[in-house]
Amino acid sequence: MTPVVAELERLGLAEFLADVPGDGVDRLQWAAGLRGLDGGLRTVAGFLLLGESARAELLPPALRGALPALVEGGVAAYRGDEVQLVDVSLFRARGVWLFAEPPSPFPVRHYFGRDSVALSRRIGYPPGARVLDLCSGPGFQGLVAARQGAPATLVELLPGTAAVARLNAELNGVADRVEVLVGDLYAPLPADAEPYDRVVANIPFLPTLSPRGEEAAHEGGADGFSVGRRVLAGLPQHLAPGGTAHLTALLLQSDRGLVAEEELRAWAAEHGCGLTVALTDRMAVDADSDLVQTTVSDHLESDPLAGPEELTAAAAAVYARHGATAARLAYLRIDHGMAEFRVYDRAHG
Ligand SMILES: C[S@@+](CC[C@H](N)C(=O)[O-])C[C@H]1O[C@@H](n2cnc3c(N)ncnc32)[C@H](O)[C@@H]1O
Repeated sequence: MTPVVAELERLGLAEFLADVPGDGVDRLQWAAGLRGLDGGLRTVAGFLLLGESARAELLPPALRGALPALVEGGVAAYRGDEVQLVDVSLFRARGVWLFAEPPSPFPVRHYFGRDSVALSRRIGYPPGARVLDLCSGPGFQGLVAARQGAPATLVELLPGTAAVARLNAELNGVADRVEVLVGDLYAPLPADAEPYDRVVANIPFLPTLSPRGEEAAHEGGADGFSVGRRVLAGLPQHLAPGGTAHLTALLLQSDRGLVAEEELRAWAAEHGCGLTVALTDRMAVDADSDLVQTTVSDHLESDPLAGPEELTAAAAAVYARHGATAARLAYLRIDHGMAEFRVYDRAHG
């Protein structure tokens, strides 16, 4: 698979993606940029970025040779004598090529978004550092680490998404230092696993509305932080002395501050860790807000017979129950062996 990357770079696809504004996760921007192009780059970009079907013989040789692996990995399928990507596009960020699904208001199987890139920018991976990527999705965080010479263990709940992470490791030529395990957070690790120098977890954080409280893979439990809590609970055992852990979270904020502040402060003090919370985007939590409406549409995907009005009321009630006036996209940095607890509010400078 590695020759595919060299071929795409020779064709100019890396150059094209590097010039797209933002973090290059926007299909509409790609489509606009491709309007003036023709020839081989246009065909490949249409196929890999925009989901257009193509006759295999029109694709360049290395990509054509990789089609059986793409079909087996579940990211491409033949329709007659044409082949097309299934749900995914090919992204490139931080030097990593990644088959993943474009951002969508609906749940996706192979997640990649601006928060993925933002989280990765916060983490340094010394060569040789042992890395654990929990909730790996199609593998972005672990692959950024592996490209910097750090062997990475990825854990993903969905077997189909874990298969895409393996394919992405092959594509980037780092499969020799990437291990992909299927299961729930720390459960698939061997009982005697050595602790890790870096633990990274871009957790799901939309609240679960199911009356039975079962979490789907894209949901974060009753208040949206239950997967985060379980990641924190396993860190004392799995984070090496002097190591760091990095999580995304959606933290609720009330008039009196962060709803989870005391809980996080107590966890850090109990386990001898420094904890830095960087608060970024502020989201409204009323019934008309994007966050509540996304939570509702997300739930409707798995439970199409549910009533949208009841769901809207239930989602708004999750936030109201905690006295939340806003939700904040937050990045948590945990330093093993330090003691400070800090909250940086980017919205307030
Ligand atoms: C927000 S995506 C993060 C993807 C990727 N790490 C990134 O940064 O772009 C969260 C992923 O966690 C997976 N997931 C959810 N609950 C999990 C669990 N308990 N154990 C392992 N993976 C889980 C989901 O299937 C999804 O692929």
